[in-house]
Amino acid sequence: MKEKKEIIVLAIESSCDETAVALVANGRKILSNRIASQIPIHRLYGGVVPEVASRHHLENINLVVEEALDEAGLTMEQVDVIGVTQGPGLVGALLIGIATAKAFALVSGKPLVGVHHIQGHISANYLEYPRLKPPFMALILSGGHSHIAYVKSYNETEVLGTTRDDAIGEAYDKVARILGLPYPGGPHLDQLAAKGNPKAVEFKRVYLEKGSYDFSFSGIKTGVLNYVNGQKQKGLDICREDVAAGFQQAVLEVVVAKALQAVGEYNQEKLVVAGGVAANSRLRVMLKDACEKEGIQWYIPSPSLCTDNGAMIGSAAYYAYQAGRVDDLTMDAIANLPL
Ligand code: KG4
Ligand code: ZN
Repeated sequence: MKEKKEIIVLAIESSCDETAVALVANGRKILSNRIASQIPIHRLYGGVVPEVASRHHLENINLVVEEALDEAGLTMEQVDVIGVTQGPGLVGALLIGIATAKAFALVSGKPLVGVHHIQGHISANYLEYPRLKPPFMALILSGGHSHIAYVKSYNETEVLGTTRDDAIGEAYDKVARILGLPYPGGPHLDQLAAKGNPKAVEFKRVYLEKGSYDFSFSGIKTGVLNYVNGQKQKGLDICREDVAAGFQQAVLEVVVAKALQAVGEYNQEKLVVAGGVAANSRLRVMLKDACEKEGIQWYIPSPSLCTDNGAMIGSAAYYAYQAGRVDDLTMDAIANLPL
C-alpha cells in the first residue's frame, strides 16, 4: 500500500467568542482557516456573555466546518484526524465544539484528539515558522491567560509563572473600557497608545518577589481608574493617548523583562510569544529591541494567528496525535484544564 504522506487535521476551536475551523497538514501547513467572529454581538454587552456565545457557536459551527472544507478543497473522507479544543474556556462554548467534533469522529470513524487551548496558541508559531522546534521559552499573553512556560518538547510544557489575578488581555480590555473604547479593547488601546507619550503618565511596574515569574495585572487597572477619576475631580483634562501609552509601557516592560530573565536562567536560545496580546504593535517592537540586544532568537506569529483561530488547534492536535493521544467519545469539556 502506498504510504500516506500527509496527516490532515480538521480542527475546531470554540472556547470563547470565535467559532473557528481549520484544515492543517502535518501540523505546519494551513489549508484553510475560517472564523465566524461574535465580537459585534458581544460588543453590545461590553464583554462576552457565555450563554449568547454558546447559542451562536451552535448556529454557526456546521456552516464554518463546511466553509473550511470547501476552502481547502477537501471532503471529510480526506481528513485523518479531528482535533478540538478541550479547555480551558467557557464550558458551554467548549461543549458545542466538542459535541460537533465527536459527531464527525463517530460518523467518519476518524480519531478524535482533544487539545489544550494554550498548547494551541504556542503551536501557532509552528505554522508561522516551519523550522521552529522545541525546546524554547514561551510567553503566552491572552485574554484569559498570562504564562511563562518552558516548552521541553511538542507535548511537554512546564509552567514557570502565571498571573495571580487578571490576565494581561483582561487588563487591556478593562483599561480600554475606562478610556471609553469598545470591546474587545486591546486592539483599540494599541492604536490609541501609538499616538501617546509613554512617559507622560507613569504607572507602577509590578514585578512581585525577586526572581518570580508570576504576574499581577489587577493593580494597574485600579491605578488607571484612580488617575482618570483624580484628574476629573480636579477639573483637569485627560490625554487618553498618554494614559493608554503609559499603561501599555508599564505592563509590557514587566512581561518582556520576565520572559528574558526566564530565557537566561534556563539557558535557552529562543523565545516564542503567543496569544491575542502578542498581536500588540508596541510589544512586538519592544521584544525585537530587547531580544536583538541580548542575542535571543524570537518568534511571534502574524497578528491573525495570535488571536483565537482553528489552525493553531490543528497544529497542536497533530503533535498530540503523533505522540499517541486519541480521545474517546466520553471526552468532556474542562473549563479550567491545567497546562
Ligand atoms: O488569545 P485570545 O484571542 O483569546 C483568549 O484566549 O483569551 O486573546 C484575546 C485578547 C483580548 O483581551 C484582546 O483585547 C487582546 O487579546 N488583544 C490585544 C490586541 N489584539 C487582541 N491586546 C493588545 N493589543 C492588541 N493588538
Ligand atoms: Zn486564546
